[in-house]
Amino acid sequence: MEPQPTARLTSHPVSTKRDIPVAAPDLTGNEERYVVEAVRSTWVSSTGAFLDRFEDEFAEMCGARRALGVCNGTVALHLALLALDVRRGDEVLVPSLTYIATANAVRYVGAEPVFVDVDPSTWCIDPARLEDSITPRTRGIIPVHLYGHPADMDAVNHIAAVHGLWVLEDAAEAHLARYKGRPVGSLARLATFSFYGNKIITSGEGGAVLVSDPQLELRLRTLRGQGVDPTRRYFFPVTGHNFRMTNVAAALLCAQLERRDEILRRRHEIFELYREALADIPGIGFQPVASWAEPAPWLFCITVNPEGFGLTRNELMGVLGSRGIDTRPFFIPLHALPPFREGSRQRGEMLPVTDRLGQIGLNLPTFPALTEDDVHRIASEIRQACGVGPRAASAQ
Ligand SMILES: Cc1ncc(COP(=O)(O)O)c(C=O)c1O
Repeated sequence: MEPQPTARLTSHPVSTKRDIPVAAPDLTGNEERYVVEAVRSTWVSSTGAFLDRFEDEFAEMCGARRALGVCNGTVALHLALLALDVRRGDEVLVPSLTYIATANAVRYVGAEPVFVDVDPSTWCIDPARLEDSITPRTRGIIPVHLYGHPADMDAVNHIAAVHGLWVLEDAAEAHLARYKGRPVGSLARLATFSFYGNKIITSGEGGAVLVSDPQLELRLRTLRGQGVDPTRRYFFPVTGHNFRMTNVAAALLCAQLERRDEILRRRHEIFELYREALADIPGIGFQPVASWAEPAPWLFCITVNPEGFGLTRNELMGVLGSRGIDTRPFFIPLHALPPFREGSRQRGEMLPVTDRLGQIGLNLPTFPALTEDDVHRIASEIRQACGVGPRAASAQ
C-alpha cells in the first residue's frame, strides 16, 4: 500500500510570514558551475585541480604554510591530535563551552578532555584558569575561537611554552577572524576548521588542518591517507585513516572563497542591524569584543538575562519558534553532558562563567540572505515578548 501523505508536523502555529532558519548557505556564485566542472572532469575523489587550488588559497588566507582538506571539522581535530601523538592517559585542556566535537576528538585518541572555564570578556578559554588545570599528564591546549571571537592566543601560547605543551586552535566557527591583526589558523602549532553548512565558508561537510611545520605536515598527510608511504605504493608504515576531502567539496569551497569578502561584508551588515535593533531592550546583552579582536561574524549571539528581560532564554526561544523564527541555545556545557560529567565531577571542576552563558546565551538567525526586514521582524518579536513596544512607539 502506498504510504498516506501526512500533514507536516509543526511545533508552532502556521504563520503567513516566511519561516526564518537560523543559518543557510549562500551558494549563489560559481558553486554550481565548479561542481559541474568537477563532475565533468571525472576527478570526483580526493585528487584534482579544485583540491589543490583550495588548499593553496586557504593556507594563504590563514597565513599558514599548508592547508590539508579533510572530510569535516571533527576529523580535522582527530587528525591533528593523531599527528601530535596524543595517546591514552594524556590530558588535553579544552573549554567546556564549545561544540562536542572538540572534546570527542580528544576521546577518539584515548585521552581525556579537562575542562577550563571561559573568560567573561571573550567567552573563550580563560588563560588565567589554565595553570590550575595542568597536571603531569597534560600534553596540550585546544583554545576554541567561540562564536567567531578569537581566543587570547598570546596568553595561551605563553602558558603552553612555559609548561612544554602544544597548542591547537579550533577555528571551526571563526573563518577569517583576526587576532592582533593576524588571521586565526596560523597562531599555534596546528589549527582546524569546519566547513559544515552553517559555517561562513561551506562545502556542506568539510574541514581543514593548517600547519606550518614540515615534519608535522608529513605526519598529517600520511595519517590522512591510510598511512601510506608517499614514495612506495601500497606500503603502509603506520595505521592511518581515510580522512580525505573530495575534489567536489573543494569545488564548492573554491567558489565560496572567491566571494569571501562579499559574504563577510553582508554578515557584518547583519550584525550591525541586530546591534542597532536590539540595543535598548532591557536584559538583552551582546557578545563582548576584546580590543585586539576582529571576530568573524558567524552566528549573532545575545544573552537573555531573565531578571531584566522578564522571560528566560528558553521561554524567548519558545516565543520566537512559535512565530517561525529558528534560534539556537548556546552549547550545553560539555562538563554537564553524560560522556564527560563524571570525569569533570571527579576532578572537581568549577566553571561558573561557562554555566551561566550556557543558560542565557542564544544564537539568532545569521546568513547572507537574511534581509533587513527579517532582522526588524526578529527584533520586534523580541521586544513584544518582553513587553517593550515597537521601537518607533517607544521613541515617541
Ligand atoms: C567549535 C567546533 N569545533 C568542531 C566542530 C566540528 O565540525 P564538523 O561539524 O565539520 O565536524 C564544530 C562544528 O561545527 C565546532 O563548532
